[in-house]
Amino acid sequence: MHLKIVQAGDPVLRQPARPLTAAELASAEIQQLIELMRETMRDAPGVGLAAPQIGLPLQLAVIEDVAEIEATERKPVPFHVIANPRLALGDETIEFFEGCLSVEGFQAVVPRARAVRVEALDHRGSPVSIDARGWYARILQHEIDHLGGTLYIDRMRSRSFSTARNAARYLSGIPIPELLAKLDGKQASDS
Ligand code: NI
Repeated sequence: MHLKIVQAGDPVLRQPARPLTAAELASAEIQQLIELMRETMRDAPGVGLAAPQIGLPLQLAVIEDVAEIEATERKPVPFHVIANPRLALGDETIEFFEGCLSVEGFQAVVPRARAVRVEALDHRGSPVSIDARGWYARILQHEIDHLGGTLYIDRMRSRSFSTARNAARYLSGIPIPELLAKLDGKQASDS
């Protein structure tokens, strides 16, 4: 069984989610919710899923990545839960294409901090501190944005917004700075 993922335009994606107590996290209800979120994320498939995306305004997200891609500093991340996260961004920004299960079928280039530190509660309600870099840092920023009612489209390079199919067709394999310049029409106009 898996849950329905709500799409952009649903008000729950735009409202700040509420924190959970440690006791709530330990409850059978939330443990069951975490299991359902895990199945829903795997089934989608996705590398992260935040509770607002299944219609619940709670500060809870699940994350898991199995891919390894050098160009995007992507490495496998074991399944884990973050609740009530606080995010600290590193200074360096990097840009890559990103998508969202709640903005189905689209992608855009989104600038994100290359490294982050996250203080959160884990699935048992215990405090954890996560130092993340590369794609994992991007996933954390994306999921934590969901808990504050923010979507990647609020941060994207809007001219790079594309269907996933057209991104693969026209935009892949081009270095991001070159692509952004091209999309801005900078190469076409020399006057
Ligand atoms: Ni998303």
